Amino acid sequence: MADIAIIYDRSESDELGIRLTAERMGIELGYLPFHKVAFGFGNDGYELRSSGKDYTKALKETRIVLNRGQSKNRRVFASTIMESLGKQVVNPLEVELACQSKIRSLLAFMVHGINIPKTVYVPCNVMEEKGEGGSLDNAESISELIEGQLGSEVVVKPDAGTHGRSVALARGHRELVETLRSIEPGITNPAGVVAQELIPKWFYDLRIIVSKEKDRSPRCEPVALVRGGFKEFRTNTFLGNMVVHVDLPQPVRSEAERCGAALAGDSPAWLIALDAMPNIGDDKNADEAELRRRFQDLEKPFSEVTKAKADPNKKTNFEEYSRNVERAYLSYKSTEAYQFIKGVVSESLNNTADRVVFHEGNSCPEFWEQTRIIAGINVAELLLRCAVSLLDR
Ligand SMILES: Nc1ncnc2c1ncn2[C@@H]1O[C@H](COP(=O)(O)OP(=O)(O)OP(=O)(O)O)[C@@H](O)[C@H]1O
Ligand SMILES: [Mg+2]
Repeated sequence: MADIAIIYDRSESDELGIRLTAERMGIELGYLPFHKVAFGFGNDGYELRSSGKDYTKALKETRIVLNRGQSKNRRVFASTIMESLGKQVVNPLEVELACQSKIRSLLAFMVHGINIPKTVYVPCNVMEEKGEGGSLDNAESISELIEGQLGSEVVVKPDAGTHGRSVALARGHRELVETLRSIEPGITNPAGVVAQELIPKWFYDLRIIVSKEKDRSPRCEPVALVRGGFKEFRTNTFLGNMVVHVDLPQPVRSEAERCGAALAGDSPAWLIALDAMPNIGDDKNADEAELRRRFQDLEKPFSEVTKAKADPNKKTNFEEYSRNVERAYLSYKSTEAYQFIKGVVSESLNNTADRVVFHEGNSCPEFWEQTRIIAGINVAELLLRCAVSLLDR
C-alpha cells in the first residue's frame, strides 16, 4: 500500500522522472489517474473509476498526493477534491490558486514588499458584445488607460498563460491598440487585460526553485536556470532560447524564499518555480556583438540536445533516453560559448542582485531535462521530500 501517490492526466518526462527518482529513493509511489476517469461522490462516500479499473481503494489508502495535472484548471480541481477528502497535497490548493493568476501572484508579492514590475489590470474586455447586438471595440480607451500609467512601451500578457504564449511587447500607441485587438478572451482568461512595464533585463531571465518541507523553513536552491538569447524580448526556453546556469547571490535567494512564502501562506509543504528578471538597464558588462556570436556558437550543440529529446522510444526506455539527453546537454555545457555566457550572466547578476524583480510563480514546473541537467536540481527529489515530510513519522 502506497501512502504517497502521484496524480496526473498525461505522463511526460517529468512524471516518468518522478517515478524513477522515487524508485531510486526507495519511496513507494502510487498512481491516481485524472483524465478519463469518473470521480463520484455523495453522502454515502466516493469512488474513482476508469472504464476498465477501479481506483477507489488506491485513492482511499493514499494520504499524500503529488499533483502533476497538466493544466492549471485541472490541478485546481485535483487539489480541491483531494483536500476535501482529507488528503494532503503538494502543491496544496492555496498554492495552485495563487499561481493560477499572474495578478494574484503579483499582488501577493507586492503586499510582502517584494520588487515586482509595475502592472496594470483593466477589468474591461477589448471587444464587448452589446446587449442590442453588435460589439463595442474598447481598444482605444483601454490603451489610453494603460499608457496613462505605464507609458508607451508595454508588455501585454494573459493573466493565466504559460510558455510565453500571447505575451507581446507593444511600442507606441498604434502597436498597443493592435496588440489589444489580438487578445481573445477564453475560459482561462475570461475578463480584462493585463499590462506590465518592460523590464530592461538585457538578454536573460531566471527560473528559481524554492520549496518547503513540513516543519522546515522555505529553501531556495542555490543555483538557478538562466533563459537567454537575442531572438526577441521573451527569453523563455519554450521559444527556442538557450539555457545556462548561475549561482544565485544570497539576497536573491532570500527574496525568493519570501516570494514562496507569500504565495504559499501557511501551507506546510510546497514547491514553486519563480520567474524573475534583473533590472539591468544600461548596466551591461559585456560587448553585445560578442555575446550574440557566442549564442550563435551554441546553436549547433543545442541542436544535438533537441535531437536527443525527439527520441521516439522515450517512454519505453526512459532511462536510456535520459542518459542520451544528459550526454547531449553535458557536451553543450562544456563549450567555450556556454562558459562565456555563464560568466557574463554571473557577473551581471552580482551587480544587479538588489534589482531583481519577481513576476510569477509556477506550481507545476517542467524540470526533468533543463532544470535537472543544466542547473543540477532534481525537482522530483525535492517534491518527494516534501511529500515524505507530510507523513506522520
Ligand atoms: N514585464 C516584462 N518585462 C520584460 N520581459 C518580460 C516581462 N514579462 C515577461 N517578459 C519576458 O517574456 C517571457 C514570458 O513571460 P511570462 O513568464 O510572463 O509568460 P508565461 O506565459 O508565464 O511563460 P512561462 O510559462 O514560460 O513562464 C519571460 O520569460 C520574459 O523573458
Ligand atoms: Mg512565466
